[in-house]
Amino acid sequence: MSSPRWRRFRYTLYSPFYDGLVGFDGVRRRSMELAAPRRGERILIPGAGPGRDLHFLPEGVEVVTGDLADGMLRQLRRRAARIEERTGSVMQVVEMDAQATGLPPASFDVVLLHLVAAVVADGRACLAEATRVLRPGGRLVVFDKFAPEDRPLSLLRRVANPLSRLLFTSLDRRLGELVEGLPLTMECREPAALGGFFELALFRRQD
Ligand SMILES: C[S@@+](CC[C@H](N)C(=O)[O-])C[C@H]1O[C@@H](n2cnc3c(N)ncnc32)[C@H](O)[C@@H]1O
Repeated sequence: MSSPRWRRFRYTLYSPFYDGLVGFDGVRRRSMELAAPRRGERILIPGAGPGRDLHFLPEGVEVVTGDLADGMLRQLRRRAARIEERTGSVMQVVEMDAQATGLPPASFDVVLLHLVAAVVADGRACLAEATRVLRPGGRLVVFDKFAPEDRPLSLLRRVANPLSRLLFTSLDRRLGELVEGLPLTMECREPAALGGFFELALFRRQD
């Protein structure tokens, strides 16, 4: 039950409620501080859901964003159009698989992966794809829930993971494993919410 069809279906089902339930505005603001996008830069936001991140971008950037689920895409398109009109930023919304975007290599200054790396079927493919499309020196911010690197999975994670993975998100992914072997340097990793259950990390694409 980890097929793209199931993911599309369930996130379309969640889409009318998602924006009201999942805020994390403080974390999004902090993520933007870490990524520090500047006027004129190109930013990729895959798996953007209804597009809450778009409110925190500076003006004058060029954004490509998308999602897999139709319901999310409808909201994302509406929000992007409103923000584009207000700010003069360029917002392109496309149906997109975060694991294989089809976008040209080294074509973005910033990639934001917010609550996506633990949701997609293959977290390593998602991180590899984000790295591929980043230009050398480009920044990647990952915000998600990750298992601790240095100890076995807790009993709670192991018990809750099958249902959580089916309906929401995986609880057994380690960020270190997702980025292993990729040309990325981790510049910071910090607790983001729920006592460190959610984390934020900033990576820079190596030359
Ligand atoms: C937990 S939501 C996060 C939404 C948004 N990034 C945020 O921070 O609020 C996960 C999103 O990823 C999307 N998604 C799941 N698998 C995907 C994939 N392979 N490619 C692109 N989007 C995907 C879902 O449709 C959903 O909108």
